[in-house]
Amino acid sequence: MTTDKIILEANTFPRVDIDFMNNTHFDELILVQKLGQLITRYQQHQDPSDDDAQQIIQAIENWIEHSHSHFYRENALMQEVGFPMYHVHSAEHEHVLVDMVAVFTSWKNNHDIEALADYVFSAWPRWFNNHVKTMDLMTAQFAVMNGYSPNSVPS
Ligand SMILES: [Fe+2]
Ligand SMILES: [Fe+2]
Repeated sequence: MTTDKIILEANTFPRVDIDFMNNTHFDELILVQKLGQLITRYQQHQDPSDDDAQQIIQAIENWIEHSHSHFYRENALMQEVGFPMYHVHSAEHEHVLVDMVAVFTSWKNNHDIEALADYVFSAWPRWFNNHVKTMDLMTAQFAVMNGYSPNSVPS
């Protein structure tokens, strides 16, 4: 059961030193906010339809796809600038993707909206908040200190 809903605001979310990372975080938070709205609507329905479920599936698919490219670009940046904690940072990406896919698979199998809500409103925002404030922040700082331009994008 979701007790403390965490909704991370795209506009006020903490920024790091590199633009493409901030833009990606912004887009991701918008996707998650939309997913959150669909979940809340589903929870409020007495008798949710297949269409409601299908919209949630689509929103999670978009989110997972977005996360893939999000992490791919950050991993590429780390390699480009030789970030010394590459393995720690990229391992966090891998772990959360495994979790997201597991949550998605179980939602498709059992339509347990409370379990999904718990992940989207609690576990994931906690993870994201902590990840950006540690790994992403350090990576961006390191990159810029080593001459990477804040407005470039990994090749
Ligand atoms: Fe990130
Ligand atoms: Fe990251």
